[in-house]
Amino acid sequence: MITNIDDFEKGEEIGGGTFSVVFKGLLHGLPVAIKIARDEGRKSIHKELQIFDKVKHANIIPALGVHLGVDNMLFLALRNFNLTNYFIDYGNELKFPQLKQYCIQVADAMKYLHNKNILHCDLKIDNILVKYDKGDQIEISDFGCAIDLEHDHCIKFIGTQTHVAYELIKYRRNPAISITASKASDVWSFAVTAWQILQKSDQLPIDFIKSEDIIKNYEAGKKLPIPVTVISEDFWRYIFLPCFDLHPKARPTMEDLHKSLLRFREAD
Ligand SMILES: Nc1ncnc2c1ncn2[C@@H]1O[C@H](COP(=O)(O)OP(=O)(O)OP(=O)(O)O)[C@@H](O)[C@H]1O
Ligand SMILES: [Mg+2]
Repeated sequence: MITNIDDFEKGEEIGGGTFSVVFKGLLHGLPVAIKIARDEGRKSIHKELQIFDKVKHANIIPALGVHLGVDNMLFLALRNFNLTNYFIDYGNELKFPQLKQYCIQVADAMKYLHNKNILHCDLKIDNILVKYDKGDQIEISDFGCAIDLEHDHCIKFIGTQTHVAYELIKYRRNPAISITASKASDVWSFAVTAWQILQKSDQLPIDFIKSEDIIKNYEAGKKLPIPVTVISEDFWRYIFLPCFDLHPKARPTMEDLHKSLLRFREAD
């Protein structure tokens, strides 16, 4: 839905990232989040729009409209928390079964995107919103880095350093080897995101933050430790460790992961 300047009102700032600032606001009198592109993010708002036009899923934040003018704006359903902030306020109350449900919901949304040949490319808990304050449902957001494999020509390195797949960090500065983002690179980021969910924190271990350290660790076989809320080691080992295979083709698909997560719930 294209909107005119009289259709909305901008309120207080509630968030922001590299490419945008997010405000509370009203659209046709109803509360919304307004994502306004910084100059360098104008292109990514167009990208987000293109993706939002194609997706509708219970675990993906719905877009409600767009305004393209002096500022480029995207109107989204308003939520009160991203998962990073929700863990800070309510982390103590959240136990493994709920956290596993979050992993299932993210996996379901990612499976849906991959079936549509869309890569998210910036999955992390800051980009996951909490749908209702009781916290039983979450939604993936921030499609500013997303890639539509059927239409985009440029599939270059992007995303957040801590979550980017091995092959993308390893070869990004080597012009002789052209490695592109893929469903398998999203799977790696999904596993890092699941680690944050099961750890109830956005803080990765100190030696899993810098690209050089990450490469060194994985080449030496050193992995992220089992997250604190995970009691059954097998849950982490069988489902998530294969996502960190250095060979993208050897990683499970989002469909495999969704299925394994559901199966584990049945076996609980
Ligand atoms: N619909 C929404 N309701 C409430 N808060 C939101 C909403 N969308 C985004 N935010 C807040 O604004 C922050 C930034 O939004 P978003 O991740 O979409 O922007 P970004 O500039 O692309 O971020 P980055 O590039 O750093 O990943 C989010 O982490 C979240 O805290
Ligand atoms: Mg973001």
